[in-house]
Amino acid sequence: MKTYITKNIKETHSWAADFAKKLCAPVTVALHGDLGVGKSEIARTIIQTLCGADTVVPSPTFTIVQSYENGKNKISHFDLYRVVDASELVEIGLLHAIQNDITLIEWPDIARDLLPPDTLHIYISEFQDGRKIEVAD
Ligand SMILES: Nc1ncnc2c1ncn2[C@@H]1O[C@H](COP(=O)(O)OP(=O)(O)OP(=O)(O)O)[C@@H](O)[C@H]1O
Ligand SMILES: [Mg+2]
Repeated sequence: MKTYITKNIKETHSWAADFAKKLCAPVTVALHGDLGVGKSEIARTIIQTLCGADTVVPSPTFTIVQSYENGKNKISHFDLYRVVDASELVEIGLLHAIQNDITLIEWPDIARDLLPPDTLHIYISEFQDGRKIEVAD
């Protein structure tokens, strides 16, 4: 486990931009953490680092998945908060994404049985005025 502390949102963004540069498909990133802790902020920076700073990255809370391309990789950004039945996960394209894409998953617990063993698990929590970001390998 590697631990990073960010003092503010800017530091979270630069941590996420560095992290993004190491990603190459297929890879799955599971973003764990409470409501509002910064999962979407990290996902947005990863996507903007890979696809361009102007990329519009809405939270997929209602659409469940949003996809992006950069000519080299496809990035699939899932938010499983509203998924109540694990049988829906194949229908929404999670397995296909895991096998092919850079797949970013917020609220990944419901998909835990489908996640590959080399999933990069990121645990985000509040820490003083900033955030603690733990990466399990
Ligand atoms: N150091 C920090 N790192 C990340 N986010 C921060 C930090 N400090 C403040 N914030 C704020 O916390 C909020 C995080 O919101 P975000 O939507 O990314 O959370 P989330 O974990 O995706 O929530 P949800 O569970 O609703 O999907 C943003 O408003 C952001 O500006
Ligand atoms: Mg979110």
